Amino acid sequence: RVDAFLADYLSGKPKGINVFSQSSSDASVTTDESLFEQPEPLSHNKAAMEKILWRKSTQMHDEQRSWQECPEGRKMMKFRSTLPAYKEKDVILNAISQNQVIIISGETGCGKTTQIPQFILESEIERMQGAMCNIICTQPRRISAMSVSERIATERGETLGETVGYKVRLEGMKGRDTHLLFCTTGILLRRLLVDRNLKGVTYVIVDEIHERGINEDFLLIVLKDLLPRRPELRLILMSATLDAELFSSYLGGAPVVHIPGFTYPVKTHFLESILEATRYQLTPYNQVDDYGTEKMWKMSKQTPRKRKSQIASTVEDALSAADFKDYTALTQESMSYWNPDCIGFNLIEYLLCNICEKERAGAVLVFLTGWDDISSLKDKLQAHPVLGDPNRVLLLACHGSMASEEQVNVNQLLIVSKKLIFNKPEDGIRKIVLATNIAETSITIDDVVFVVDCGKAKETSYDALNNTPCLLPSWISKVSAKQRRGRAGRVQPGECYHLYPRCVYDAFEDYQLPEILRTPLQSLCLQIKSLKLGSISEFLSRALQSPENRAVQNAIEYLKTIGALDENEKLTVLGHYLTMLPMEPKLGKMLILGAIFNCLDPVLSVVAGLSVRDPFLAPLDKKDLAEAAKAQFSHDYSDHLALVRAYKGWKVADGDQTGYEYCWKNFLSAQSMKAIDSLRKEFYSLLKDTGLVDSNPATYNVWSYDEHLVRAIICYGLYPGICSIVHNEKSFSLKTMEDGHVLLYSNSMIARHSRIPYPWLVFNEKIKVNSVFLRDSTAVSDSMLLLFGGSISKGDMDDHLKMLGGYLEFYMDPSIAKLYQNLRRELDELIQTK
Ligand code: CDP
Ligand code: MG
Repeated sequence: RVDAFLADYLSGKPKGINVFSQSSSDASVTTDESLFEQPEPLSHNKAAMEKILWRKSTQMHDEQRSWQECPEGRKMMKFRSTLPAYKEKDVILNAISQNQVIIISGETGCGKTTQIPQFILESEIERMQGAMCNIICTQPRRISAMSVSERIATERGETLGETVGYKVRLEGMKGRDTHLLFCTTGILLRRLLVDRNLKGVTYVIVDEIHERGINEDFLLIVLKDLLPRRPELRLILMSATLDAELFSSYLGGAPVVHIPGFTYPVKTHFLESILEATRYQLTPYNQVDDYGTEKMWKMSKQTPRKRKSQIASTVEDALSAADFKDYTALTQESMSYWNPDCIGFNLIEYLLCNICEKERAGAVLVFLTGWDDISSLKDKLQAHPVLGDPNRVLLLACHGSMASEEQVNVNQLLIVSKKLIFNKPEDGIRKIVLATNIAETSITIDDVVFVVDCGKAKETSYDALNNTPCLLPSWISKVSAKQRRGRAGRVQPGECYHLYPRCVYDAFEDYQLPEILRTPLQSLCLQIKSLKLGSISEFLSRALQSPENRAVQNAIEYLKTIGALDENEKLTVLGHYLTMLPMEPKLGKMLILGAIFNCLDPVLSVVAGLSVRDPFLAPLDKKDLAEAAKAQFSHDYSDHLALVRAYKGWKVADGDQTGYEYCWKNFLSAQSMKAIDSLRKEFYSLLKDTGLVDSNPATYNVWSYDEHLVRAIICYGLYPGICSIVHNEKSFSLKTMEDGHVLLYSNSMIARHSRIPYPWLVFNEKIKVNSVFLRDSTAVSDSMLLLFGGSISKGDMDDHLKMLGGYLEFYMDPSIAKLYQNLRRELDELIQTK
């Protein structure tokens, strides 16, 4: 082992493309990309190196022993030995030593994430190999990487950043002695960019593979290729469900170790029995709320057994149609008190109150679809006489996601309420945790006895045919429902309330569709290119389940259209820069151009703003005031510029410690403003790493900017998301080439005007809900579209002109279109020669 390690280490070439700074060796917040510290190569003398490693291993061994023998350590070992994973320890370690790849499955909470990496680490330390072993364990979410590593450090009697550390994007806690590192899947993928063989890493553990996230599926293809090149590397896949066979056959029949678990029986209630048992009254107050519920209930009585899809779609209709003619009204209503995407909050409130007053002790876990739901339900419950009483109820929120918007929340959550979430509350106080599906498998709350399941989860889906992504709550799978139910039976027999009828459950799919089959593939394709993994479609055809060819082609087309790939699918210079910016290509494009044109300040706000929740609030009871406040930001015919203005006002006010007041007066979310503020810093530091901006803050703290230029840069980023504005007598309508008539999303600033002095809109996304809605748009002029729409590079100029010509011809007089085309050609030639 030592020989293999040394050979590997000493043969290491200097780092390849060093795009990120390498720094900090002590346990501290780090932003560098290297995962483990290599021992100082004092000399290339093998004997000297061996000595260093031996000394370090001995020290690790002694430290581990002394912890395990002290009273606290013993107590911890005793707890750990009660976990089901502990009983399988020898079987697992044995399987790992004899196979390059193994798959471990076991119920959530059995100890996979916290114990298995520790078993490996401990046994290496026992064998005096501690200093030579480097274990990476990937997690799909930041919050689990952070909380699990901290838990393990505690179990080992250490502080975080010693033997155990974590690394998530732009943040980390690891040090010179870290040998077990938790990171998000994205971090490991980015590491592979500069270190294709994962030099020095001895074990890779991929956790939560049953979730089938796009990054995990991608990582598996890469690791599968890596295994023959690194025969001593061990790969361990961990899954909470029993579809392990799928992975096993993908990885050449790798053995599966199952950890038998134990859960107490959980009594299941579907909607029909909940309504009957609680005698939930339909009062005028919650008429709107109950529309879906009531209809579903009736249906569950009437429909004996319709065909699967029929039922699912009928229920969808019952829930979402709800007689709202105007979608705009619907979304606005839903923001404050009614959510069309899961069953009424009123029913949940009623049910929770029922549990608090009548049921035995035990925590309640409520599964909702997303942060929006969680925070609005939390507000509602806090106003309730029983549920909002802190002497009776401890109300907590728990969610975690990799979307940057939420990272801020996650951090706050970790600091503020992590202990509260995991610990038992005082006697007589009932803990209620509102969670997203993160609590399904990644996080275990031990004392849960009651589970309330709304039956939905927010997932991105992708309509390859129309090339339209949708982010909508959709029904969960049977496996997820079972997982949610299982959370109730960990400490004693539990109860689970599914807020949907039995017939709906019967219509659920068995498993959820893997993400790679339901999301746009642009970023993935860029990553494939930057890792030099060959042809995109060939590479993706080797996935566990390959995406549709049409979806792959769409992504490649898009990347060509925006100039990230050339004709031959080769990464362009722009594409190369885009791969250094871990964000959607369109956001990256704006940043790059913002840097080049030296107007980064507003562009940073635009890009940060696109990554957070809409900061303009519209509370129902103060609708008019909120509207009036909003009006002062809306005169630019741009949602993006409105945000730039709002942020600027906040920043100025915040300097005087009056940021909150400013938000309050202007109906802005202070949380979103803070999130934008910190994202701007993140994006700026990412840009610095690309070398496009220097560290002089003067370049980005420029308060004055050319509004037209910013508009043009937004156009550059959002192209080909373009739509034409057609004015009629009183107002205007919108159409795009692919969808025909489209509408503006209800919160758009542009919808407030009846005339727009520009012929085009560029938009961030379109969402299909009955009609197609555009979200986050900016009005742009002909010349902006002409000059900034698409790529400016010689190779694909003709194609680009054809495409641009297509747009222009579609929307305007062909002779004018011709004129524009010629003008663009001349401009392009000018640019090329300059
Ligand atoms: O990964 P898996 O779902 O199999 O379980 P785990 O995350 O390793 O958790 C195993 C056990 O450790 C849980 O059942 C909890 O009792 C405990 N744990 C804890 O007390 N605090 C944490 N932050 C994480 C786990
Ligand atoms: Mg786990």
